[in-house]
Amino acid sequence: MKIGIIGAGNIGATLARKLVACGHEVKLANSKGPESLQNLVSEIGAHAVTKEEAVSEVDVVILSIPFAKYPDLKQTLKNVPEKTVVIDTSNYYPGRDGAIKEVDDGKPESVWVSEQIGRPVVKAWNAVLAATLADNRQPTGSSTRIALPVAGDDVHAEAIAQDLVEDTGFIALAAGNLEDSWRQQPGTPAYCTELTLPELKMALEAAGKARAPQNRDALIAKFMTPGSQFTHEQIVATNRAMTA
Ligand SMILES: NC(=O)c1ccc[n+]([C@@H]2O[C@H](COP(=O)([O-])OP(=O)(O)OC[C@H]3O[C@@H](n4cnc5c(N)ncnc54)[C@H](OP(=O)(O)O)[C@@H]3O)[C@@H](O)[C@H]2O)c1
Repeated sequence: MKIGIIGAGNIGATLARKLVACGHEVKLANSKGPESLQNLVSEIGAHAVTKEEAVSEVDVVILSIPFAKYPDLKQTLKNVPEKTVVIDTSNYYPGRDGAIKEVDDGKPESVWVSEQIGRPVVKAWNAVLAATLADNRQPTGSSTRIALPVAGDDVHAEAIAQDLVEDTGFIALAAGNLEDSWRQQPGTPAYCTELTLPELKMALEAAGKARAPQNRDALIAKFMTPGSQFTHEQIVATNRAMTA
């Protein structure tokens, strides 16, 4: 497929690398401009482009920028055809992104994103740590392969997002409509907990909407405690324990 990715950080660059490796044609953009991406794209085999070029003549656009910056993309996406699938990887952390009242009041993050950019989105890859995305090497068919939730309102768009999630090395689980996507947001049992498919199904079911932001903030406070250091395994274990 032809894929444009806006955001070339931990998640965007890793997705670009993995999707190129699967044979997709990938264009990558950031805020600084294509010159700043030359080394990266020549290493991974993608194309460095402007934001406008990233969304032009592609089948899929993946948005992977800081949550509060999504309103910047409305103009960029204005003329993108309806059939182009737009995938959102974002998560909201008020301490990092600034408080956004509608989301604090319960609007699912990706519903807010969709409203800001003026078009439907599928939510995917938000519930995986960047390190897990980069390093997960479990083969297809493995019973311990990690499953990731994919939520959206359009069956065709969601199916494409699921295929791409599988291409990046995970099992994709249809996790409901975008309104349901709070079940995969920070502070839920499905979020960055590295679950198998049966475990992920149970985790989505067990999520509590009021509890999730409290868990999110408690987890951040724990991880940011001065002097504390967590290994990857400890981060996943802490996420599991505090959201159970
Ligand atoms: N890190 C994780 O473990 C993780 C896991 C799952 C989901 N997420 C979510 O995925 C998103 C990206 O996270 P990340 O960790 O990859 O972030 P990151 O490493 O900080 O990278 C952010 C990227 O977005 C670009 N960017 C920022 N503002 C932009 C704008 N207005 N237009 C175009 N590009 C812009 C930046 O470009 P410049 O450098 O040129 O400014 C950079 O390439 C976030 O919403 C995050 O919550 C993160």
